[in-house]
Amino acid sequence: MRQKACPTPKTELGDVTVRAGEGVLVPLAAANRDERAFPEPDRLDVGRPGRRHLAFGFGVHQCLGQPLARLELQIALTGIVRRLPGLRIGVPAGELSFRHIMAVFGLFHLPVVW
Ligand code: HEM
Repeated sequence: MRQKACPTPKTELGDVTVRAGEGVLVPLAAANRDERAFPEPDRLDVGRPGRRHLAFGFGVHQCLGQPLARLELQIALTGIVRRLPGLRIGVPAGELSFRHIMAVFGLFHLPVVW
């Protein structure tokens, strides 16, 4: 049986050409650090107006638990800041070790003092 020709044999994504049949893997953490979309992306700013981040994915597989996750974070972070206003990282930032080999980025340990 003959396959139908793909109606869009290639498409341009930024300055890259993606051909029919090729896959695109989007590293969400890197996308959220794109300074063309988010000024000073490495600065923690919980009051950022930008809401176009990809932390919960995008499209049909966008995180189903995001309303719960947002609520949990709002409650937990507000509680921590209220109860421990002097909370800070307990070691120089360069000593923190990050997990790089998994889909969910994070720290192995986060020593804190207050
Ligand atoms: C800060 C916390 C969370 C983050 C950053 C997060 C992030 C994500 C991301 C990026 C995806 C998309 C993965 C993909 O495109 O394949 C996803 C999917 C999903 N998340 Fe979350 N998530 C969080 C919390 C939760 C919670 C609390 C629940 C459930 C109670 C949950 C349930 C799901 C489910 C079921 C999917 C799959 C949706 C689908 O494939 O249609 N997530 N999440």
